[in-house]
Amino acid sequence: MTITVFHDADALAHELAVRVLGAIARQPSIVLGLPTGRTPQPFYAALRAQTEARRTDWSQVRTFNLDEFVGVGADDPGSYRAYMERELFGAVGVARQHVGFLDGRAVDLAAECERYERAITAAGGIDLMVLGIGANGHIGFNEPAPGLHARTHRARLEAGTRASNADLFDGDVAGVPDEGLSMGMATILRARSVVLIATGEEKTAAVEGMLRGPITTRLPASFLQLHPAAVVLLDRAARPMEA
Ligand code: GLP
Repeated sequence: MTITVFHDADALAHELAVRVLGAIARQPSIVLGLPTGRTPQPFYAALRAQTEARRTDWSQVRTFNLDEFVGVGADDPGSYRAYMERELFGAVGVARQHVGFLDGRAVDLAAECERYERAITAAGGIDLMVLGIGANGHIGFNEPAPGLHARTHRARLEAGTRASNADLFDGDVAGVPDEGLSMGMATILRARSVVLIATGEEKTAAVEGMLRGPITTRLPASFLQLHPAAVVLLDRAARPMEA
């Protein structure tokens, strides 16, 4: 994995935004895989600012988000779909018919997961996947477990994962759903390019395990070692000692 360490989270966010906008300029109908969480917020802010500065045209860009909460609708402010609308889609002008998202309120969740896999395949696969990492090493909602799912699936969320998402539900952990839908590890590893971003010292141990540890279902991000060209962008706080 290629590792780059930035002075701070804003420098990282700016560099990644420039890379993504460069990729859009080269390939206007690029298929992006996108994360939610606190980590990508400076990245989305940089994308908004740089899109305006460079007049980037997002009208042909297609997107697939990593995950969504079960039981939460797109119009619920706590949903990842609403987060993306606030952080990116509304500001840069992603055509909503080009937005791929898991529907956490689908009547048949297994069918919804299969639909998502087919939609990604029909779009030609994900060209560039941006990922965050949980403090426990999760990717999307692929939590540490005795086994992982290859494809998009329904997942139970750990208490720590629910706590880190409480801000979306007015700070109330009890309001955070205990299940999600998530791309699986193979869905993620099929992306042609993968960029993982991590900032802050609470991520250092997970980053260390991801980079240096054995590939283990106990630290799902370690599977990124199997990707032929995964890129890891860190700020100084998230950097393990020898990275
Ligand atoms: C969340 C999301 C992940 C995200 C991770 C880290 O639960 N499902 O996709 O990468 O946790 O979140 P944060 O960036 O807020 O630390």
